[in-house]
Amino acid sequence: MTPDLLDQGAKRLQQHLQTKEQTQSSGGRGASYSRIHHAGELDVTHGRILYMEDVNVSFDGFKAINNLSLDIGLGELRCIIGPNGAGKTTMMDIITGKTKPQSGRVFFGSTIDLLSYSEPEIAKLGIGRKFQKPTVFEYLSVWENLELALKTDKGVGASIYFKLSAEQKNKLFEVIETIQLQEDLNRQAGNLSHGQKQWLEIGMLLMQDPKLLLLDEPVAGMTDQETERTAELFLSLKGKHSLMVVEHDMSFIKRISDVVTVLCDGSVLAQGTLDQVQADERVIEVYLGR
Ligand SMILES: Nc1ncnc2c1ncn2[C@@H]1O[C@H](COP(=O)(O)OP(=O)(O)O)[C@@H](O)[C@H]1O
Ligand SMILES: [Mg+2]
Repeated sequence: MTPDLLDQGAKRLQQHLQTKEQTQSSGGRGASYSRIHHAGELDVTHGRILYMEDVNVSFDGFKAINNLSLDIGLGELRCIIGPNGAGKTTMMDIITGKTKPQSGRVFFGSTIDLLSYSEPEIAKLGIGRKFQKPTVFEYLSVWENLELALKTDKGVGASIYFKLSAEQKNKLFEVIETIQLQEDLNRQAGNLSHGQKQWLEIGMLLMQDPKLLLLDEPVAGMTDQETERTAELFLSLKGKHSLMVVEHDMSFIKRISDVVTVLCDGSVLAQGTLDQVQADERVIEVYLGR
């Protein structure tokens, strides 16, 4: 379809939805509920992409997550800081389905109950996760790594005969530009610098068009220059994607953050701009003042 046709289609849908709203509801609160949302489809009409409420996780009686409530806005870049053992990684494990909490609510948009989905299903719903260590295929080229990221849900047989469509090729070039590895297309991933490997892995996530990206200590081990480029990368992703970034590097947080959430003992200790949380006595005591 041409962009024009797509545009026309979108306008028709919009008109249809508006007429439906006018005829079905008296406006106000009910209006947003009358929009069509299919099962499993992300509904962000309330502006939140992630919503966690009173979540609890215990490991052998130890409360790693303790009545945690937190939400993230659509297109937001949220930074999470907090001492080691605060539960930051466990929180990501919960969102991605790796760990199931004993109680609480975790929603993707306002209709998708993440607790009822498995880890691979959650990835397919559009939540991408970047672990601390880069996990690229070292013996493959940058291009092949990105290509492979498109094929993950196909069988091995399908992979061998897989051919990129024009659209997928465009996507690949777009991602390569975003992660600034244009010059390194044919280089073996194993020969990239640590920072470049991290960007490549982020690129592999981007190939899947995630709506929410979770990044755990992405600049650990990077040079200052690589850290700066990562800051630029994340700022460029903000708005197009929603991001949750866990980091200890305060100058990096300062560079990219709007709202910072401080996690401690499995729940939110403070939230606000970096300046606000850095001035908070409780935060200084448990984290910054060490
Ligand atoms: N699978 C697990 N089994 C037992 N304890 C765990 C497990 N995962 C995490 N923990 C504990 O939960 C707490 C929070 O860990 P984690 O989420 O990794 O913290 P952070 O990422 O903030 O450093 C820590 O005390 C950790 O030892
Ligand atoms: Mg951690």
